[in-house]
Amino acid sequence: MRIIKVKNYEKISHSAANVIAAQILLKPDLVLGLATGSSPIGIYEELVKKHQLWDLDFSEVRTVNLDEYCGMEAEDLQSYHYFMRKHLFDKVNLKLENVHLPDGKASDIAEECVNYDAMIRKLGGIDLQLLGIGRNGHIGFNEPSDSFPLGTHCVKLTSSTIEANQRFFGSTGEVPRQAITMGIGSIMKARRILLVASGKDKAEAIREMLTGPITPKHPASVLQLHPDAVLIGDEEALSDY
Ligand code: GLP
Repeated sequence: MRIIKVKNYEKISHSAANVIAAQILLKPDLVLGLATGSSPIGIYEELVKKHQLWDLDFSEVRTVNLDEYCGMEAEDLQSYHYFMRKHLFDKVNLKLENVHLPDGKASDIAEECVNYDAMIRKLGGIDLQLLGIGRNGHIGFNEPSDSFPLGTHCVKLTSSTIEANQRFFGSTGEVPRQAITMGIGSIMKARRILLVASGKDKAEAIREMLTGPITPKHPASVLQLHPDAVLIGDEEALSDY
């Protein structure tokens, strides 16, 4: 994994947005895998600026998001659908028919998962997948487990993730208990991976990801096997490495 160490969150956002913009310039119909959480917000702000000030063109870009909470309507303020509209989709010239997220309200979740993987295959696979990392090493919503899940699937969130994500809700009781997420297999098939991590509370997860054993107990450790994975981390996130 290539490691780019920068000073702080602002510099991560700037560098990662530059990487994404370069990919869009080189391949205007890029299939871009997107993430949610606080880590990518600054990147999306930078991409919006590049669109507004420098005409970065998203008109042919296709996007696929990693995950969505089960039971969430797209209009729910805490849904990842809403998050993506607020931070990126409504602010650049992406075509709505080109953006894809799992449907957390699907009546048949198993079928939704199969269809989501089929849709990614139909797009030709992911060119660049943006990732954050959970404090327990989860990527997307692939929580620590006994095996690496391959395709898109439904997961039960761990108490550590529920606690970490409660800041986006009123209380832990309001955080959904389940989510649909791309599997580790889907993520690993992306031709390039860009993981961003900021802050001291990610330092242990980053150290384990880079130097620990490759194990589903720390899902991000699988990225050691990816041929083109890049980490952009700040001094705090890389402080234990
Ligand atoms: C959620 C998302 C992940 C994200 C993680 C870390 O669990 N499903 O994709 O990487 O949060 O979020 P943050 O960037 O807010 O620390």
